[in-house]
Amino acid sequence: KKRYSITLLPGDGIGPEVVSVARNVLKLTGSLEGIEFSFQEMPMGGAALDLVGVPLPDETLSAARQADAVLLGAIGGYKWDNNEKHLKPETGLLQIRAGLNVFANLRPAVVLPQLVDASTLKREVAEGVDIMVVRELTGGIYFGKQRGFGTNEDGHEFGYNTEVYAANEVDRIARVAFETARKRRGKLCSVDKANVLEASMLWRKRVIAMAAEYPDVELSHMYVDNAAMQLVRNPKQFDTIVTNNMFGDILSDEASMITGSIGMLPSASLGASGPGLFEPIHGSAPDIAGQDKANPLATVLSAALLLKYGLGEENAAKRVENAVLNTLNKGFRTGDIYSAGAKLVGCKEMGEEVLKSLDSQVPAA
Ligand code: NAD
Ligand code: IPM
Ligand code: MN
Repeated sequence: KKRYSITLLPGDGIGPEVVSVARNVLKLTGSLEGIEFSFQEMPMGGAALDLVGVPLPDETLSAARQADAVLLGAIGGYKWDNNEKHLKPETGLLQIRAGLNVFANLRPAVVLPQLVDASTLKREVAEGVDIMVVRELTGGIYFGKQRGFGTNEDGHEFGYNTEVYAANEVDRIARVAFETARKRRGKLCSVDKANVLEASMLWRKRVIAMAAEYPDVELSHMYVDNAAMQLVRNPKQFDTIVTNNMFGDILSDEASMITGSIGMLPSASLGASGPGLFEPIHGSAPDIAGQDKANPLATVLSAALLLKYGLGEENAAKRVENAVLNTLNKGFRTGDIYSAGAKLVGCKEMGEEVLKSLDSQVPAA
């Protein structure tokens, strides 16, 4: 029997609600596939701040490093919004990404046939969209060392950040993106702001240089403002998108809405070695936390990515994905993806339905 240890980081807000569902899904999937999971729940984010006073305790990071894979819910909430920078839940999130060196964040945005009506775009625009956003995750403006607050000559307070990308940082994310595009439809669009920003100029130069190694991949470049517009004009033009940390953050939230809801989008954060970090792209949704309203499917699908990319358990991953599709085929919807005629359920009930669908193994339509 195969055994894996999984570190769970439920976090804040809806995080614990959606991670609890994903944990049950992993457990049952394991028993159906002959895999045994041991789960270790560790505090991070606001939960860790309340417990031990830091957003990423050393014990949490070392547990994550020793695990075979890490599943995270979400962090953050009003309570900690005015904390100093080093005592923010979000700082803990950046620390664990950096601590695991997971520089490549894959954010697939797929419009499922079952959810076309949940998209805010017209059916003919949304139908068939299948985009992979490859977001650089451990560099750029989030991590620029020159940052802080000050007061200028005129006595005005200011805040500043810097975007820095070294050639090797661009190369390693570009490599992941070209390899990803090659396994998909062979199209890669690099999104930058090379008309204005030096960091983007270097980014574009390095991506172009690497293209010579991938003659089978059709490379294009787009400025981020245009990309934001093109995503809602004609999202089907995109296959794989590679972009920096901040643009990837913004464009993936935008892409999520094409698929119906941010509550559907999973992500996989991978490094050169060591455990991967798997998390939904959404946040802690404080507006619906504790109300059993959250859509757990982004986290369940993140668990599927964990099985696939984190553990190489392709069959188990397929089983989870099929269970999600079957649950949708049966008409179950949380509020965020509800459309007329569907069966409205909460987070828990959606989780129970996914478990039933795992068990029944009805092939997805
Ligand atoms: P958010 O993603 O938490 O919520 C945005 C909107 O989407 C809200 O209306 C929310 O109710 C809805 N939503 C999000 N996930 C949902 C789900 N699974 N099901 C149904 N509806 C869902 O973004 P925000 O409001 O900008 O941020 C809230 C907090 O989360 C902040 O503290 C922020 O820093 C944090 N955050 C954390 C992460 C993370 O942990 N990776 C990601 C984004 C934001
Ligand atoms: C995300 C979030 C985080 C990010 C925040 C909470 C630090 O928005 O995971 O997309 O910007 O990366
Ligand atoms: Mn985000």
